[in-house]
Formats: sequence, C-alpha cells, structure tokens
Amino acid sequence: MNIVLGITGGIAAYKAPDLVRRLRERGAEVQIVMTASAEEFVTETALQAVSGRPIRSNLWDKEAEAAMSHIELARWADVVLIAPATAEVMARIVSGAAPDLLTTICLATEAPIALAPAMNHVMWNNPATQSNREILEKRGIHILGPGTGSQACGETGAGRMLEPETIAAAVFELGVGKGEGLLEGSTVVVTAGPTREPIDPVRYITNRSSGKMGYAIARAAAAQGANVVLISGPVSISAPPGVEVHPVNTAQEMFDATHQHIANADIFIAAAAVADYRPAAVEKQKIKKKHETSRIDLVRCPDILASVAALPRPPFTVGFAAETEKVEDYARLKLSAKKLNMIIANQVGDDLGFDHDDNAASVLWNNGRKDFPKAAKSDLARDLVELIAEHFHASRGADTEPRLTVISNKD
Ligand code: PMT
Repeated sequence: MNIVLGITGGIAAYKAPDLVRRLRERGAEVQIVMTASAEEFVTETALQAVSGRPIRSNLWDKEAEAAMSHIELARWADVVLIAPATAEVMARIVSGAAPDLLTTICLATEAPIALAPAMNHVMWNNPATQSNREILEKRGIHILGPGTGSQACGETGAGRMLEPETIAAAVFELGVGKGEGLLEGSTVVVTAGPTREPIDPVRYITNRSSGKMGYAIARAAAAQGANVVLISGPVSISAPPGVEVHPVNTAQEMFDATHQHIANADIFIAAAAVADYRPAAVEKQKIKKKHETSRIDLVRCPDILASVAALPRPPFTVGFAAETEKVEDYARLKLSAKKLNMIIANQVGDDLGFDHDDNAASVLWNNGRKDFPKAAKSDLARDLVELIAEHFHASRGADTEPRLTVISNKD
C-alpha cells in the first residue's frame, strides 16, 4: 500500500516516526509530506531515516516536483493519512483551500483520506471544529479518533491523537482491496461496550468494558467488505469508518436496537458486556442515605444473544464469554445453553480483556480448535473475523449447519 502521510504542526507529531515504522512493518510504502509548522515538532532527518524516502514539504520545490509532481503523488497514494491533523488543516480541507503541498494533494487525490485529529480538548469541542468534522465525515473522509485523556497542555479531555498502532491498523482497513473481502455482501450486527442500568437519576450499575474489542471486531468485519451495524453501549471511542453505529445505554435498549436490525443479518457477534441484572425499580429522585445499610432489588435483563440464537431463522451467531476462572467450562455451558454457533472465550485479568488494548482467546469447535495468543485487539479481531467468515461460509454451504463448539481462553 502506498501511503502519503501528512504531518501537521501539533505536539503529537513527535509520534510520527513510530507511526511510520508501524505502517512500514505492515508492508506500506510511506511518503511523508510535512507542513512548515510540523517542522517545529519533528525533524526531517528522523522522518527520512524511518521512511527511507526524501521528505516533501514545499509545493514549489522544482527538483522534487520534477521527480514526482504533486499530482503524481496524489495519484500514487492508495491512502492519504494526516496524523496529527490540526484544527487548521481540517478547516482548510473543508474550505478547499490549498496553500501548501499537503492540502493540494488532498484536493487532487481520489484515494481515501483519513485524519487523526490531535489538539487541545477545547479546540476539539469548539463548534467550528465539530462542524468541520461533520462536513468531512459527510464527504467520506475518515476521522480516526481522537482519544480522550491527559493532554500536553496539562488538561484532560478529548483531543489526544490515537496511538500509532491503532492508526496503522485503521488505515489498513480503509477499504483497500474492497470487492475481495471474505464478507463482501454480508450484513454483520455487532454489539459492543457496557450497558448502564439506572438506579436513580444520578447512579447506575455498569462494568469495565471499554468497547475496544467490539469496535475492533466491527472494524475488521467492515474491512472484509461486510455491511456492519454496531449496537454500542456508552464508550469513549470513535466509530470505525464505514460502520453504522446505534448508541444505546441499557440492556433493554441494546436488546431493542439489536432486534430492529437483526432481520437482515447474516452474522451476529455479541461482544458487549451486557448487564445480567438491573434495578427492579428506578427511583425518580436521588436516593438519600437514611440508614446504615441499604439494598437494591435486581431483576434479570433480557439475554440478547440467546434471543437472537432462538429466532426461527437465526443468523450465524457468535458469543463472547468473559471469565475469571474455569474459562472453558463456563464458556461451554454458555455455548450450549444459548445454542450458539460459536463462542469466543476470553480470560479477563491483569493485562487482558476489559479495558486493555490486548486480548487473547481460544476457539474450539466440533472438528477443531484454534488458539489466539495475546495480541493487540485490532490484530486479534482481524483473525477472529477471518475464522468466523470461514465457518459462516461453511455453514451456508452445508446441508445441515455445523455447530461450532468453542472455547477456552487463555493467554
Ligand atoms: O470492551 P472491552 O474493554 O474491549 O472488553 C472486551 C470484553 C472483555 C467485554 C469482550 O471481549 C467480552 O468478553 N464480551 C462479553 C462479556 C460478557 O459479558 O460475557 P458474558 O459471559 O457475561 O456473556 C456471554 C455472552 O452473552 C456475551 O456475548 C454477551 O454479549 C451476551 N449477553 C450477556 C448478557 C445479556 N443480557 N445479553 C447478552 O447478549
């Protein structure tokens, strides 16, 4: 893949050499185009060393233009990625202004464009920036992130550039090779993230799911050409490019949204950590502390996964099982009790599962077993989706659908 990597003037530009390395590790050719202000944060020398190509920065550089003009560069690119992308470069692309080499390439390219914004959280939340983001997304430009957390300015909020590994994985899933994916023409419904079950107007029951695993699955399925519908609990990560997202809060809302979209689904993948119980009654006013002890009566939430598997014509149905002990035993029980085609069991613990960037799983089925060692969730999701696609197609081809038996999770 040929990638034009635009670097603009933000402090996150210091991560650019790492991003180049990760793109090249995946086999990409990377041509860097820097803006004048990016040069304040990272040196050409470092970037030339990691990219192996002379850096382009000046639209009026006669020698460089003679070797490969800005139009040729725009045609050469399979993807134009700008990371970090400042509020200013977003505004310039929206307006169509092209005062420098990078924005000229953006105007002249027919390749997908992806931006990884990085800026102070107030700048990100400014209505002008949010309006620019909306316009860019409507035009099909992919916005990767930003993430939320502590910022270089010492404040906390949304505006951190995503980590280089996350950006690299996302770029490789931007529809390159579209038309050749394992799930071309299929519809995949994915649930992700936690649910929130209200207790009173200010309190709720939830869990530690970040949505990272489910979002990675959705992204990987879209990269395989599927139409992906993502039913997401409350998370602070951005929608994967090209995925239709339906935000929900409670288990009941996730159940309703899933059943609204399941009729056309070929595959259902339940990665969400859905509450098993919710308060029997939601207090209208904030509960006051009157006594030394207190209790909340809980009732069962609807089981979304089991309800989908029980449909008269269910999609190929894949569950997750998050366990802290007896992983394989418990996962097996869920596989058979919920009548699933497949279950992906993950041991949750110190550096795996909930809210971590890495995960591991093992999959068993009637005539085989596959273990997935600890890896970045983006990489694991890619492998899991390939396996699911393989068994989904086998189930379609067979007279009787093979029941996949999974399971066991371990590092
Ligand atoms: O979100 P991350 O921070 O990236 O973490 C990822 C993860 C650990 C949440 C994910 O990999 C995972 O394991 N998700 C399922 C977690 C879970 O709640 O498992 P469970 O064993 O309680 O549920 C079994 C299956 O039934 C799951 O597919 C779950 O989505 C589904 N379920 C459970 C209860 C319910 N009421 N409805 C459901 O659909």
